[in-house]
Amino acid sequence: MTSKARNKPGAPAASVPASKHEIRPGQSIELLKELHILTRDGQLNQDSRRKLKQVYHLFQFIEPLLREVLAEHGQVRLVDHGAGKSYLGFILYDLFFKSQAPGAAGHIYGVETRDELVTRSRELAQRLGFAPGMSFLNASVAESMQSDALPERLDIVTALHACDTATDDAIRFGLARGAQHMVLVPCCQAEVAAHLRAGKGAAIQRNPMAELWRHPLHTREFGSQLTNVLRCLQLESHGYQVSVTELVGWEHSMKNELIVATRKPGVARRRAGQRLEEMLATVGLNDMRPRFFTPLLDGTAGDADEAVADLKGAAQHG
Ligand SMILES: C[S@@+](CC[C@H](N)C(=O)[O-])C[C@H]1O[C@@H](n2cnc3c(N)ncnc32)[C@H](O)[C@@H]1O
Repeated sequence: MTSKARNKPGAPAASVPASKHEIRPGQSIELLKELHILTRDGQLNQDSRRKLKQVYHLFQFIEPLLREVLAEHGQVRLVDHGAGKSYLGFILYDLFFKSQAPGAAGHIYGVETRDELVTRSRELAQRLGFAPGMSFLNASVAESMQSDALPERLDIVTALHACDTATDDAIRFGLARGAQHMVLVPCCQAEVAAHLRAGKGAAIQRNPMAELWRHPLHTREFGSQLTNVLRCLQLESHGYQVSVTELVGWEHSMKNELIVATRKPGVARRRAGQRLEEMLATVGLNDMRPRFFTPLLDGTAGDADEAVADLKGAAQHG
């Protein structure tokens, strides 16, 4: 194919052998094929080259956290909630855990509700020789709160596009297990928008800012942004330092907001908790205080242990 034909719109993307600059030394070719980053015959095309760049882009955010935990604790215990096909877990294992002494780097746990994906991940881990350092739990995030299969303390919690409120559950999980870092790429969350919708009439009467969510499309969009703002304040109120960036070009979804939270002893928490409470009151969402629970501010609401107990109760009954 000439270079002209190759660049023609609609022409099939040309495959070229993967160069050594793109595939890192020791990287599992079988895994890259499984992730459809390499074609069956080990080639890269334009699409897959972009995918590989995205994988490295995400890894560059997580690698320093892994190194920090490893240096501090000698092992990294990471749980990936809403793991799906466990792409993230496999990539992290391949690029980081595998190169450490066998079994020394720690463990990756994938939590996923769809049993066929869990079975598939278990099989792939066996096939790649990753099984000693990877386990997969067929459970919801809420159920995993009381699972004996997960260690009492976890260092890193990740949740990439975990559906709807699963990100909120992942935050609860991280808080309950004392996670040092949380890496979250939220999916759409419909719960806040539903509460905004329900209280819209009253909100418009008393607050001109309610124009921000008057139209149905805006209710959804504002609800989504508000959710992430509340999540950030919640994390800050529990002593985490939070950074929010964009996961550029991540093609899985239009939702590209990357929230990285790191627990910092001594971080001022009270102000964030107060801010969160004020925001909830301003937008008429006081009934959502249990969802975005903060450490006890006033002795009446937002107690973390209480909210975690609620979550455990919900999991038992659901
Ligand atoms: C959009 S996929 C993302 C998968 C993966 N994290 C990724 O980025 O490729 C969301 C996954 O979360 C799972 N899921 C949804 N709600 C969940 C919950 N409450 N607990 C655990 N998994 C959940 C779904 O079954 C689905 O596989």
